[in-house]
Amino acid sequence: MPQITLTTLQSLKLKGEKIAMLTCYDATFAHEASQAGVEILLIGDSLGMVLQGHDSTLPVTNADMAYHVASVKRGNKGALIMADLPFMACATLEQTFANSAQLMQAGAHMVKVEGAAWLADSIRMLAERGVPVCVHMGLTPQTVNVLGGYKVQGRQEAQARQMRADAIALEQAGAAMILLECVPSELASEITQAVKIPVIGIGAGAGVDGQVLVLHDMLGLSLTGRTAKFVKNFLAGQPDIQGALQAYVKGVKDVSFPGPEHGFSA
Ligand code: KIV
Repeated sequence: MPQITLTTLQSLKLKGEKIAMLTCYDATFAHEASQAGVEILLIGDSLGMVLQGHDSTLPVTNADMAYHVASVKRGNKGALIMADLPFMACATLEQTFANSAQLMQAGAHMVKVEGAAWLADSIRMLAERGVPVCVHMGLTPQTVNVLGGYKVQGRQEAQARQMRADAIALEQAGAAMILLECVPSELASEITQAVKIPVIGIGAGAGVDGQVLVLHDMLGLSLTGRTAKFVKNFLAGQPDIQGALQAYVKGVKDVSFPGPEHGFSA
């Protein structure tokens, strides 16, 4: 696969071709997923749950993230590498810069940060200093203790209006991408149409520009035995992991995934 850049992803949005993104934490899976055509590898702080066995993403450190970014970089064959800034990595502007620099120097092409319009200044300053930013909105797992659980966000009209306004403000501040997690499908489509930057969804319906899943989830692996509504097991019916990864890319590209059963209504 030729090296995927933000320009590539922008042109996929313009052409209406869906973007396939997956979480990835090591060199072997980075090799397999990028060979299968996954365009964005996200080193998600979900590694705290699926690799480290914690019950939330909060214990993950920036050093943990940098270690896995460097591993993914070594196996990657052309995908764009996005790295999560973990819990409290952006508590101050100085920490935001230092932690982003550590992830970019470990091999990330961009960082992802959970939040909303209050991030505008940090995003503008990161973009000016050469760090493209994806903003993770909707269900933001790092604030699970404020949200009162892993719940769909944006169901109330006031909340939906705020999310639409925040997305536009963050694009204007220089965000390069938006990720929407557990947002009603109709609201996610509206936000996707309202901004020029690519919008990736997880539990956000098929009207966004691309999809992401946690690697372990789409391979049918679960430590808890629970599976979220938006997850599909792509290993089922496939001979091997490469088959599952290719089936995922095909499902995203031909828009057979996600189906209506994987989304949420308002
Ligand atoms: O950490 C992660 O894996 C994520 C995805 C759920 C999008 O942020």
